[in-house]
Amino acid sequence: MSYSVSIAVNGVEHTHQVEPRLLLVDYLRQVLGLTGTNIGCDTSQCGACTVLMDGQSVKSCTVLAVQADGSSVTTIEGLAQNGDLHPLQTAFWESHALQCGFCTPGMILSAADLLHNNPDPTEAEIRHGLEGNLCRCTGYQNIVRAVAAAADTMKGGA
Ligand code: FES
Ligand code: FES
Repeated sequence: MSYSVSIAVNGVEHTHQVEPRLLLVDYLRQVLGLTGTNIGCDTSQCGACTVLMDGQSVKSCTVLAVQADGSSVTTIEGLAQNGDLHPLQTAFWESHALQCGFCTPGMILSAADLLHNNPDPTEAEIRHGLEGNLCRCTGYQNIVRAVAAAADTMKGGA
């Protein structure tokens, strides 16, 4: 049995027949070929699969593709606009906030949700906002620094 789902991913509407058990992360990676969204665990703990769904960060390994029907999803591939990196992407680059980079897409999308809801977070609020994302390289210090730098940039641009 399969169901028709229509999901706007990075501003492009996609309609596919999918099995009801297909996870959103597998839909993004296997059906759409958007492999920037990573799978780092099978326990819903690492946050490597984080995307924005209707503007809110979700762990896409905990969402079924059929549950995302009718929604708008943003993945790391959709953050840059007109060839310009998102301020968070630039800040991660400049603050050396990635080592292997495996956690980075999820970290950035969680941070995007955080800054949308709280444009001027304290360090403690950044740490709290990212607590669902694990970095196995333990680069947390620079990740927090990068999010603070992006917040400054985004405030300046507002
Ligand atoms: S792969 Fe989704 S939380 Fe780890
Ligand atoms: S940079 Fe390697 S897991 Fe975070």
